Amino acid sequence: MTLSTNSRRAWWRKAVFYQIYPLSFADSNGDGFGDLEGIISKLDYLSDTLGVDALWVSPFYRSPMSDWGYDVSDHTDVDPLFGELATAERLIEEAHARGMRVILDYLINHTSSEHPWFVESRQSRNNPKRDWYVWRDPREDGSPPTNWVSVFSGPAWTLDDTTGQYYRHTFLPNQPDLNWRNPEVVEAMLDVARFWLERGVDGFRVDAAHQIMKDPQERDNPPVPPDYERPWKDMGEYDDYVHLYDFGHSDVHQAHRQLRAIVDSYPQEPIIVGEIHIFDLPEWASYYGEDLDQFHMPFNFHLMACDWDAGSLRVAIEAILWNVPVGGWTNWLLGNHDEKRLTTRLGPKHARLAAMLLLTLRGTPFLYYGDELGMTEAKIPPEEGMDPWGKNVDHLSRDGARTPMQWSSASNAGFTTGTPWLPLAANSNSINVETELEDPRSVLNLYRRLLAARHNSEALQIGSFLTHPASDNQVLVYRRESNEEIATVALNLSDEEAQVKIRSGRVIVSTADPDRAETISKKLLLEPYEGVLVTHQ
Ligand code: GLC
Repeated sequence: MTLSTNSRRAWWRKAVFYQIYPLSFADSNGDGFGDLEGIISKLDYLSDTLGVDALWVSPFYRSPMSDWGYDVSDHTDVDPLFGELATAERLIEEAHARGMRVILDYLINHTSSEHPWFVESRQSRNNPKRDWYVWRDPREDGSPPTNWVSVFSGPAWTLDDTTGQYYRHTFLPNQPDLNWRNPEVVEAMLDVARFWLERGVDGFRVDAAHQIMKDPQERDNPPVPPDYERPWKDMGEYDDYVHLYDFGHSDVHQAHRQLRAIVDSYPQEPIIVGEIHIFDLPEWASYYGEDLDQFHMPFNFHLMACDWDAGSLRVAIEAILWNVPVGGWTNWLLGNHDEKRLTTRLGPKHARLAAMLLLTLRGTPFLYYGDELGMTEAKIPPEEGMDPWGKNVDHLSRDGARTPMQWSSASNAGFTTGTPWLPLAANSNSINVETELEDPRSVLNLYRRLLAARHNSEALQIGSFLTHPASDNQVLVYRRESNEEIATVALNLSDEEAQVKIRSGRVIVSTADPDRAETISKKLLLEPYEGVLVTHQ
């Protein structure tokens, strides 16, 4: 562990991240798909208008686009849909020139079936790349080697006629799993990390990070018992089993430690953030590593699995913070390219409270593009669907959360001059950057005020967190404190007015009233669904 990457003031602890889904952000050439040049053209919006500090850019590598870029056929080149390698290099440079860091998606669990490694691997049982993937003989009756189900439904094994063996795929059949127990694979994938680190990236969001190591004995998963409580959202057929054996075998930690060691050897202090969908908190926290030598942060999805009320949020937040190891640091997110849009899940009133929560908790916030506008889930008829998961299981489609960014009230919301690859949300005429900038009460201006407040406050960036005794089932109140400053956040999650007793101070941001700036003396009044940030001398 290097001191700088874990120090209290490390850049990533103070940063606010913004996730860009490149296909849907900005289209520069009119083909209906967003691209890297499009992102470059919007960097001023991100750094100046909005004021975020770091970008997580979802995959733009060469890909047949079966899973829209999460199926990579060349990790070290850019897909022509998005631009060229030189465009990616320029994106990194231009972001840096504006003071923003850039992390990329790093896809370790699988490649595309069109990746040259897999094309070779499937050729014969004795091909030198055979063991780069996971090949097994059928069971005696010809069925797959285990009962494991793919995340996207259907068996996690596909029989390949050429050699009469099954290969394993945690996701789509054309996303074969890499064999991380083969040292050549580890070396090849670490080279991919080096390739991008040499080009100045500030780290990676590591895709499907806990999935790479499965039970070496390859035991069947037990079916769920009748009273089983799902830890997370409805996952269709995947929920029929308890996932004891198809992720997170203990040697996963060694693999992550190897990646961390590479990352730590680069001067830009890069970070790795792991996509860890584990809801048992001690197990989740084990992905920091016993010596904080694995992920700087495992992604914290816990608030998305939590009931949205003051009592449940308080319990969840305290439990998460208790479980972060000493010296570790967490993150918060309420949306990404795999989840239903925040504003649709919670409704517009709660979405404003969610903005304040996300930007005032102790930990690094990750915003998902368009959530800063209050973009809502678009209804897309199944026949126009693009998401392979949605094609397997209609109600699990992620398309609605991936629609084009809404820039203006021009045609196609200013996203493209062509035909957008996914339809726009119906409300793009009123919910867009241009319109919202004019309106002080807009969601965008609320985010801008919150971002500015966070940047100006050491207490909000790195201060301690304590829930306040005034918290109850209606109002969530907490305190953030640094050496120099104390702030209190009070969120009224109910439809009734509330009154809380807090020490005197000055209102900095209200989610309800952009002009609320009074000095309060011990008593804070909150409108229904109002959240207020107060600072104290
Ligand atoms: C991760 C990504 C998701 C993708 C899957 C397979 O979970 O977040 O979008 O479909 O991996 O690569």
